[in-house]
Amino acid sequence: MLDRILELRKEYRKEKLDEQHISDNPIQQFRFWFDEALKAELIEPNAMMLATVNEHKRPSMRIVLLRDILEDGIVFYTNYLSRKGNEIDLNPYGSATFFWPELERQIRMEGVLRKIDEQVSDSYFAKRPRGSQIGAWSSPQSKPIHSRNELEDNELHYTTLFEGKEVTRPPHWGGYVLVPDYMEFWQGRENRLHDRICYSLSEGSWLQSRIAP
Ligand SMILES: Cc1cc2nc3c(=O)[nH]c(=O)nc-3n(C[C@H](O)[C@H](O)[C@H](O)COP(=O)(O)O)c2cc1C
Repeated sequence: MLDRILELRKEYRKEKLDEQHISDNPIQQFRFWFDEALKAELIEPNAMMLATVNEHKRPSMRIVLLRDILEDGIVFYTNYLSRKGNEIDLNPYGSATFFWPELERQIRMEGVLRKIDEQVSDSYFAKRPRGSQIGAWSSPQSKPIHSRNELEDNELHYTTLFEGKEVTRPPHWGGYVLVPDYMEFWQGRENRLHDRICYSLSEGSWLQSRIAP
């Protein structure tokens, strides 16, 4: 198997990224690239790796789904009492990474995580399929459970509870916005000489720079 791993080697030749063709605003640039990811019909282009850090400075990561792009950040939804929720309570800094292999692109964002307005979470929750709404009530995310049965019993319980009624949003479930003060766009290039354009927020303005791959 080790040989097979060593054989895994890909050259990146699809595109380039240069200062003349990139927006001054990284969120705008993110929109451009996200739009291209949609047009390329990638599988789950909105999946991003989200890192948080606990009170002992230990990072943890997991995939979440991007659900909105705001003027100043990106939104995902989760359980506020989950491991990530607890970590964000203790340390509101996080980072997210998107990897789109078909486009040979990576995007990194770093900044502060804050809960979005409850009304916005309500309206997003109301649009979710009923099964996912019941699922949000049924899963004590990141907590130990005895067996799969416990989840399925919870699901049955909440299905009965909400029968014939609208499923309201659990108070412990909602959105976060990651408001970046650093973003980086990576475009794979030949011979590992990739393009990396970074943006740092300084006194309300985005400063752009290129860093070595
Ligand atoms: C493709 C994919 C999409 C996911 N989307 C979400 C999501 O949007 N929100 C969420 O809470 N968990 C999502 N998950 C599950 C998380 O990766 C993770 O298991 C869960 O949030 C618990 O993480 P935590 O214990 O670190 O809080 C997704 C997982 C995958 C693989």
